[in-house]
Amino acid sequence: MTDTHTAYIDTGTLVRQLDAAEAVPAAARLRARSYQLLRLPPDATVVDVGCGTARAVTELAGYAVHAIGVDLDPAMLAAARRRFPGIDVRAADAAELPLGDGQANGYRADKVYHLLPDPEAALAEARRVLAPGGRITLLGQDWDTLVIDSDQPELTRRIVHARADTLPHPRIARAYRNLLLDAGFHDIDIEVHTLVFTDPAMLPMPVGHATAAHQAGAITRDEADNWISEQTRRAHDNRLLVAIPMFLVAATR
Ligand SMILES: C[S@@+](CC[C@H](N)C(=O)[O-])C[C@H]1O[C@@H](n2cnc3c(N)ncnc32)[C@H](O)[C@@H]1O
Repeated sequence: MTDTHTAYIDTGTLVRQLDAAEAVPAAARLRARSYQLLRLPPDATVVDVGCGTARAVTELAGYAVHAIGVDLDPAMLAAARRRFPGIDVRAADAAELPLGDGQANGYRADKVYHLLPDPEAALAEARRVLAPGGRITLLGQDWDTLVIDSDQPELTRRIVHARADTLPHPRIARAYRNLLLDAGFHDIDIEVHTLVFTDPAMLPMPVGHATAAHQAGAITRDEADNWISEQTRRAHDNRLLVAIPMFLVAATR
């Protein structure tokens, strides 16, 4: 399936990109920090919304909690079940979760809210499923301030901004805190962690950005090809650099 909001990427490509990004030790530390900020009590129930291939669902289950994954994409859920047979993953929309009122002690959404048509509705749904005192963590990239090293900085800026503009909410991560306050959450923790990628395995990400920028009409085919050649050369010469600011915001219901 092709996600309507990441129309430039099919599910298989997205899975490969997520696998490459989540493999770096700093990404694993960031996930662990997101679990810590949930302050889960023993025997907690936690829901990971937009769970993808359920990496976090499986890791959370290791904290002796009941972890439920929810995702809209059946192909993602099929991949999750193949990887982790027996996990509890459910097909549903973030705005209509398959949980009862107050059933969850923790709610997590990682790299998801920029895709949602109505983030406020998803937060209202988070409040519904969370028990009083339950915790929420939102984690996500700020698409406008992605850093990519290139010999063509002006073209790079255009590519980054054009790719950001293909998303429903490219700058939502910097607004997480205010959205949570507006939705009635309190006791907010806010952190920004920069993930740095230099492995050639991450090359498909800048290539995808240039392709998206071209398809959006922001750059010419020649500009895209030229920039992709430079990034490919950099990957080959171990000179790739992509840095992504990740907002991690937690709050209490
Ligand atoms: C970029 S992926 C992140 C996956 C996972 N959270 C991770 O960090 O690896 C975004 C996920 O959100 C899911 N998604 C998008 N819109 C959704 C919605 N309205 N409700 C539930 N899931 C959604 C997509 O299918 C996809 O699996």
